[in-house]
Amino acid sequence: MNTYHIKNLEEYFQAYRESVTEPETFWGTIAEKNFSWHKKWNRVLSWDFNTPEVKWFEGAQLNITENCIDRHLSERADKTALLFEPNDPKEPAQHISYQQLHGQVNKMANVLKGQGVKKGDRVCIYLPMIPELAFAVLACARIGAIHSVVFAGFSATALSTRINDCDATIVLTADGSFRGNKIIDLKAIVDVALTHCSQVSCVLVAERTGNAIAMVPGRDLAMAPLLQKASSECVATVMEAEDPLFILYTSGSTGKPKGMVHSCAGYMVYSAHTFKNIFQYEEDDVYWCTADIGWITGHSYILYGPLANGATTIMFEGVPSYPDFGRFWEIVEKHKVNQFYTAPTAIRALAKENIEFVEKYDLSSLKVLGTVGEPINEEAWHWYDNVIGKKKSPIVDTWWQTETGGIMISPIPYCTPTKPTFATLPFLGIQPALMDENGNEIEGNQVEGRLCIKHPWPSIARSIWGDHERYRQTYFSAYPNHYFTGDGASRDAVGYYRITGRVDDVIIVSGHNLGTAPIEDAINEHSKVAESAIVGFPHDIKGNALFGYVTLKKEASEKEQTILRKEINELIADKIGPIAKLEIITFVPGLPKTRSGKIMRRILRKIAHKEVSNLGDTSTLLNPDIVNQIREIVGV
Ligand code: WT7
Repeated sequence: MNTYHIKNLEEYFQAYRESVTEPETFWGTIAEKNFSWHKKWNRVLSWDFNTPEVKWFEGAQLNITENCIDRHLSERADKTALLFEPNDPKEPAQHISYQQLHGQVNKMANVLKGQGVKKGDRVCIYLPMIPELAFAVLACARIGAIHSVVFAGFSATALSTRINDCDATIVLTADGSFRGNKIIDLKAIVDVALTHCSQVSCVLVAERTGNAIAMVPGRDLAMAPLLQKASSECVATVMEAEDPLFILYTSGSTGKPKGMVHSCAGYMVYSAHTFKNIFQYEEDDVYWCTADIGWITGHSYILYGPLANGATTIMFEGVPSYPDFGRFWEIVEKHKVNQFYTAPTAIRALAKENIEFVEKYDLSSLKVLGTVGEPINEEAWHWYDNVIGKKKSPIVDTWWQTETGGIMISPIPYCTPTKPTFATLPFLGIQPALMDENGNEIEGNQVEGRLCIKHPWPSIARSIWGDHERYRQTYFSAYPNHYFTGDGASRDAVGYYRITGRVDDVIIVSGHNLGTAPIEDAINEHSKVAESAIVGFPHDIKGNALFGYVTLKKEASEKEQTILRKEINELIADKIGPIAKLEIITFVPGLPKTRSGKIMRRILRKIAHKEVSNLGDTSTLLNPDIVNQIREIVGV
């Protein structure tokens, strides 16, 4: 059996057994047969979830870009590697072959070197979805610099926090970015961010929108002329297996984002292997993931996973609604997309639109449909299955996280029978466990609990940048010897998993992972605000939306409240980004608190959900009266 490419359910079960009984043999074989190494490992795995420390392929040497680019040149030099589809459908798509990608990545690598970037240095990439973003990411990997991509929808404050946390000294950006019919002035956002980042000595600016920008002499340089002059040859830096490859920030339960650190060898092996199987990619397929490279989905399943398999991967600059709601389907027809991977929030938004936006296009090329980012509701699942897949393209509901680096629980299409809203079975090597409130594993089926993973997999994040203790505390302290995901899950009669959602203070809005604490911190910075608490509540399209309970220092009139609502949302957009804006802001005289001063979010959540028939035990509250007052204001 070729365990690199699983083709039926029996093969899956057999490979799964092997992957959990002999994980080292299993992953050692996959790594050895399917990748190119400068030096083989001394040991496949060493680990201790208490320290915590995980090392895969220790002693091995490699460069991930040689695996993603160079090794394909003998057979796939002219094959399209990156297929860039611009925001404006009238602008032609760009087919960037493996040979061209090689040249462009090397040029960018030489430009970075020319600015003094060395192995281990952190490079902040704040670019829109244009080819330069892909070149920049891979160029860092080429020379062993650690990339930290910041989603170009984040605000100046969020950007500066991330630049400073990893002490990046160089930032790559663009003049602007296209979003539908709008231009976002990216360079101006960088300029504001950098007023708080004195260590940044160089900003490389790609030209995309042509809007007027200010260039700071001695700091800012136009990227294009440097690229033009640079050599298209750059020898890849030989990396140790456990050298960091990148940092990617994710929100947590405190205001400070967590810089998840991923390392070279394990990440490469796992992102590639999951890509091959979960999308059943075949040589001439065209694969499209609609995510932004600013998220882990884009890292693993637009760039590294597909390129490691020599795939053709689409990079889409625009939005699903521009020029109209048929854009995704137009692109599927135009490029004859075979695998399509998107988020439930996009599916729900498009399902609301006129069916003609779908019916106009030929979607017969589709073979696999994927979803990721949040639980998919049954209605959206069936719409995706019927209307987009015409019931012939299996849906892979892929559960994973920034921290896991790759897909953890998912059907393998054409192997695993799918079931609406179920992520189904663990991928090879993944050992899930459901835990009860007392920290014991819940055995058997038809059970529900907190989702943990019992054994390391190759692409588990190795640390939080600069704060290993926080890494231990966040993921390895709740359940000794287990990685805790922060999610709840159930297991059905046949062992299929269904992810029920976060059990911590993270709320997923339109597929974006938002911690309540940083949003509350932002609100509390308003001079008139005393305190605030954020909860999620169900929203038709976004999955969840944010409900904010805010207490003011002084009572405010209706009119003042309207202004305050606007100011609070502006503050949030400024500190975090527009994605974190509140749907509802309710001013309340106080928040329900326990005697130890903890806000009882459970009650606030129930009120926001309009589920007040059973508010549970409120006797431990310091101020039980407040609950009725809040209910009256909210009107439930
Ligand atoms: C959280 C991780 C990993 C890519 C995008 C999000 C939720 C993710 C699913 C799914 C139900 C899902 C979880 C997880 N999530 N995929 N298929 N079904 N929930 O990455 O921003 O790190 O968020 O997204 O709650 O913990 P992320």
